[in-house]
Amino acid sequence: MNKRLVLGITGGIAAYKSCELVRLCVKAGIAVDVIMTKAATHFIAPATFQALSGRPVWTDLWDAREPKSMAHIELSRDAAGILVAPASADFMAKVANGFADDLLSTLCLARQPGSPLLVAPAMNVEMWQQPPTRRNKARLVEDGVVVLGPGRGEQACGETGDGRMLEPADLFAHVAALFAPKLLKGKRILMTAGPTEEPIDPVRVITNTSSGKMGYALAQAASDAGATVCLVSGPTSLPTPAGVTRIDVKTAREMFEAVKAQVAGAHVFIAVAAVADYYVKEYSERKLKKREHHPGLTLELAENPDILKWVAQSEKAPFCVGFAAESHDVLENAEAKRRRKGIPLLVANRAQDAFGRDDNQITLIDDNGRHPLPRGTKAALAREIVAHLAAMLDAD
Ligand code: C5P
Repeated sequence: MNKRLVLGITGGIAAYKSCELVRLCVKAGIAVDVIMTKAATHFIAPATFQALSGRPVWTDLWDAREPKSMAHIELSRDAAGILVAPASADFMAKVANGFADDLLSTLCLARQPGSPLLVAPAMNVEMWQQPPTRRNKARLVEDGVVVLGPGRGEQACGETGDGRMLEPADLFAHVAALFAPKLLKGKRILMTAGPTEEPIDPVRVITNTSSGKMGYALAQAASDAGATVCLVSGPTSLPTPAGVTRIDVKTAREMFEAVKAQVAGAHVFIAVAAVADYYVKEYSERKLKKREHHPGLTLELAENPDILKWVAQSEKAPFCVGFAAESHDVLENAEAKRRRKGIPLLVANRAQDAFGRDDNQITLIDDNGRHPLPRGTKAALAREIVAHLAAMLDAD
């Protein structure tokens, strides 16, 4: 695919963040053609984007540089997609209603079917919450436009709330996804991720230190590779990966019920969650009190369902992938686990390397043996796992 992106800039102070986005794209070898609306040029000079992208910047529908006077058509052909960041309320309204009165809006309307259009709204919180903006956003989504964010926080006007444009690194992740090979196109993938929480009383739980980062990275990578991903997640503080459907649960038993409800029709099940092996047998409706002269407390635990094993042994089982986090004898334990659970692919890692961190070291284990991968970010490793999985599905 042509490694070229069309980046639209509309009038908003967040335009300065798009300078960094262009830099990230160029660093990754992506050519960026910047199109600016007239309002955008009041915030940043076209020369800034020209210097950063190393390419001409386009502002005018009637630009004579385009030999056939068809800049509104030619610029988007062969590009991986169009990203408009920042997208103002006015620009969203235009695209939602099919207006085409300047180069950028005309370019959006003239894009070919299937050509991705992403918008990253940036506006004052009140503008974002007004019914017309909400209607326009809903209509854009209905039309297949991907709306990225907005984020929440302090705004240029001094107010706080929804409406901040996503950060350049977050936007870049979405741009990178446009260029990911669609290795899992047409596949439905069900996943679990994060820890589970087993309540003891109304304020206390048994849980573990899983952050959910590996599972979320894998959900993102699978979605970027063209899969339809449903993520059943234990409690985490992570944002939902773009394009992924997320179902929130707390306990292992809730996770099991959600998986049972979603598994029909899934081609692949990937169990990344660090599921608690046990739950507290007698949940106390009242907060447990510390008892004087009574050192120690005994909680009776009962076994949780093994979700992965249940799915792997079910009739019409999807292709199952498991994770094993071990503190010692990682590979031996992982190989035994793969056999015990009866699954074709298992990802082994050392719990100390994996939990809560942004990077990891993993070994893939399948019928052909061990495939160790070099240490990397969870996002990079997720892409490797996707490639390995896709190759196994192809061979299946
Ligand atoms: O049995 P163990 O917890 O070591 O196996 C880890 C793998 O099994 C992971 O893929 C995990 O998500 C899955 N698992 C599960 N349900 C459980 C326990 C583990 O799906 N109750």
